[in-house]
Amino acid sequence: MTPHIGITPKNLKKSTAMLATILSNEMTLYVKTRKFHWNISGNSFMELHKLFEEQYRILEANIDEVAERISQLGEKTIGTMKEFIDNSTLKESPKEYASQKHMLEELLENHEQLVTEFREFIPAFENDDNNDIGSADFVTGLLQQHEKMAWVLRRYQV
Ligand SMILES: [Fe+2]
Repeated sequence: MTPHIGITPKNLKKSTAMLATILSNEMTLYVKTRKFHWNISGNSFMELHKLFEEQYRILEANIDEVAERISQLGEKTIGTMKEFIDNSTLKESPKEYASQKHMLEELLENHEQLVTEFREFIPAFENDDNNDIGSADFVTGLLQQHEKMAWVLRRYQV
């Protein structure tokens, strides 16, 4: 049943399509951060092993929030690996095992890319013909979390 919350069906679809992209990217970054948690080695092993766990737990919580928001806006939520890959703008690197330095750089770049993309999505949720201020506010909260995770990763760059 379509939610009657002052947003047209067309705009609900527009919002949920943007949220599906966000969901896919959160999932891609979650899987990547877990891979790095499992494969980190070097002189900062335990510190980064724990840092990556802390960050993938944040991403895991975000994934659930984004998916349930899509459902709240009346749309089915994608939930297969293929759909996540097809809808993700972040890239994976199969069979590659990055050094500690490159793991930190890649995660930082990915978080910064998401922050940049969210900055474009947020006004689109609440532009002239779409009044989805709930999603705009929600994604602003996600943006702030990614800004903070990026800040932590950036501090390792010397
Ligand atoms: Fe673990």
